[in-house]
Amino acid sequence: MRTAMLKSIRSSLQKSSSTAAGRRSYSSESAPERKVAILGAAGGIGQPLSLLMKLNPLVSSLSLYDIAGTPGVAADVSHINTRSEVVGYMGDENLGKALEGADVVIIPAGVPRKPGMTRDDLFNINAGIVKGLCTAITKYCPHALVNMISNPVNSTVPIASEVFKKAGTYDEKRLFGVTTLDVVRAKTFYAGKAKVPVAGVNVPVVGGHAGITILPLFSQATPQANNLSDEEIVALTKRTQDGGTEVVEAKAGKGSATLSMAYAGAIFADACLKGLNGVPDVVECSFVQSNVTELPFFASKVRLGKNGVEEVLGLGALNDYEKQGLEALLPELKSSIEKGIAFANKS
Ligand SMILES: NC(=O)c1ccc[n+]([C@@H]2O[C@H](COP(=O)([O-])OP(=O)(O)OC[C@H]3O[C@@H](n4cnc5c(N)ncnc54)[C@H](O)[C@@H]3O)[C@@H](O)[C@H]2O)c1
Repeated sequence: MRTAMLKSIRSSLQKSSSTAAGRRSYSSESAPERKVAILGAAGGIGQPLSLLMKLNPLVSSLSLYDIAGTPGVAADVSHINTRSEVVGYMGDENLGKALEGADVVIIPAGVPRKPGMTRDDLFNINAGIVKGLCTAITKYCPHALVNMISNPVNSTVPIASEVFKKAGTYDEKRLFGVTTLDVVRAKTFYAGKAKVPVAGVNVPVVGGHAGITILPLFSQATPQANNLSDEEIVALTKRTQDGGTEVVEAKAGKGSATLSMAYAGAIFADACLKGLNGVPDVVECSFVQSNVTELPFFASKVRLGKNGVEEVLGLGALNDYEKQGLEALLPELKSSIEKGIAFANKS
């Protein structure tokens, strides 16, 4: 039963990237060596994400870093009989070793949103943490693909880009804001309303990763459900945008989404690894440097390849409701991007 469960988790991770080739299974024997580092590995997201990455056969070395608690998480996860070697690193003085040689760095370090916390409180703490970690990335693994989970993603991705630019290591193909949880939620909520099996559902989500900047494109959802009214689409859009708040409120002071986020983070990292390994047609939505709108960063479908972003795909045809949503989100997203850039250049 244990083997069956493991197989099913693995196959779900492997299937998720929207690609026919991605559905092919790659045995650990034929997969190249890949080091994945998780920064913030002992946290609410970090721990289940460490578990899920330990189950990923594309990972040969799993490096778990946090300012506290990593020896325990690493010892625990390392006993699982899967391919990767696990090492835990704790404290600033060990960050270099944690990062050295990493192909993919996943960053869920920071503080989560709690009731009563202002956006500025969250911004100031997490922006400083991200800036410090990205500075270390420029020194120890400047060519790694960076998967930014720390919120506010609309600002932390621009912060990372500025840090990398200053160090002369910026490559826009290698920096990703992880917006996969928005896609995961949109798929789940849509499948529930449309009464279609969720496993076959796809919904692109574009824009950014906070409130109204999250724009699910249900007009492009597959399979296309003809049984949903305009009101239901509006409600689905709102529920996708407010998914994070739904969890924050339900957890009543104990943090934000961690388990669903770990799942989403594992799906996205898996897609990055497949791209690096040369699997064709790996497509996921992500918040990346972009020419899709007038803003320098924007989330849309992205084709992943051996160097990270291979192609930023366009928006496709939007209906009037989605066009309005796009117009409405641009000013807020612009100001979050500018806030990140200003923070990075402050000192
Ligand atoms: N992108 C998304 O969709 C999404 C979804 C949910 C949460 N988040 C964000 O993810 C982040 C983490 O959330 P969480 O619930 O896991 O929080 P958490 O507080 O449970 O865990 C954060 C971890 O980061 C560690 N940390 C703090 N400073 C660090 C540093 N300088 N270096 C390394 N590690 C450090 C902490 O010790 C802790 O273990 C938050 O910013 C949250 O808002 C993003």
